[in-house]
Amino acid sequence: MSAQAVRSVLVLGGTSDIGTAIAAALVRRGATEILLAGRDRSRLNEAAHTLQSSSVSVTCIDFEATRTDQHRSVIQQAVERVGDLDVVIVAVGVLADETGLDADPTAIAEVVTVNMGATMGVLTAAASRLRDQGHGTLVVLSSVAGFLVRSDNPIYGASKAGLDAYALALDELLRPSGARVLVVRPGFVRTSMTAGMADRPMATTAPSVADAVVSAMDRDARIVWAPRLVGLVMPAIRMLPQRIRGPLLRRSMARNDDPANLKSSNE
Ligand SMILES: NC(=O)c1ccc[n+]([C@@H]2O[C@H](COP(=O)([O-])OP(=O)(O)OC[C@H]3O[C@@H](n4cnc5c(N)ncnc54)[C@H](OP(=O)(O)O)[C@@H]3O)[C@@H](O)[C@H]2O)c1
Repeated sequence: MSAQAVRSVLVLGGTSDIGTAIAAALVRRGATEILLAGRDRSRLNEAAHTLQSSSVSVTCIDFEATRTDQHRSVIQQAVERVGDLDVVIVAVGVLADETGLDADPTAIAEVVTVNMGATMGVLTAAASRLRDQGHGTLVVLSSVAGFLVRSDNPIYGASKAGLDAYALALDELLRPSGARVLVVRPGFVRTSMTAGMADRPMATTAPSVADAVVSAMDRDARIVWAPRLVGLVMPAIRMLPQRIRGPLLRRSMARNDDPANLKSSNE
């Protein structure tokens, strides 16, 4: 299904800057039913307000991703409200406190639970619905950090690597039904998640990621990089021997650090 034919959109992580930017781009292409699922009702209402218009209806649904009992029910609630789901955007994600060998095991488990375990659970519930209805696109927010896991963000990177691999396998399972998965691999995006951090190389914005997603849907792509240049650079860097790649990545990240940026970068 091209982005042009999309009517209904469910955003899991309904306050996400990238998720709502993709929903807004789909509204510009004709989507009329938006569902925002998230854990903070007042922020969900704010996001709904920015998308709502006379021709667009926006509904908010309570959703806590770590509650596995909600994985099927959130999809069911969305279907009860709008019928078939043309696009499901999986935008749930958290950064990790990356302290290398001193990382707190509980904090590691929490990040992996949200970014991988919980996300895979709800992704599977959505995929099952899309298979049954015989069409639809699952848009999964992976990351460049998961394609090439760096030593400065191994927890976040590894969690996204797992999600990315799972989403690509789900795409293979889904395709025969007519539904599909689009894996999105953004680089550093200026959103609330990265607020206060210095830009990384090839930094971009949520609306630019959204435009890339919509055009990838039109092409029926399985993977989209944002910006496109990271999709050329990162696979090339990944092929370098580790002894060259490690220092190269560390140098390029260090150039963009500034003393005010005490939070470690995760993209
Ligand atoms: N920004 C970047 O540089 C970048 C780059 C590559 C990939 N990504 C990925 O893109 C996705 C969207 O990120 P963003 O930049 O738009 O950041 P964001 O605005 O912070 O969005 C993250 C979303 O995840 C939700 N979330 C976190 N934990 C949750 C939980 N336990 N249950 C339900 N919802 C939960 C947040 O909800 P609350 O509002 O309730 O916290 C928020 O809606 C994430 O998966 C992120 O990892 C981001």
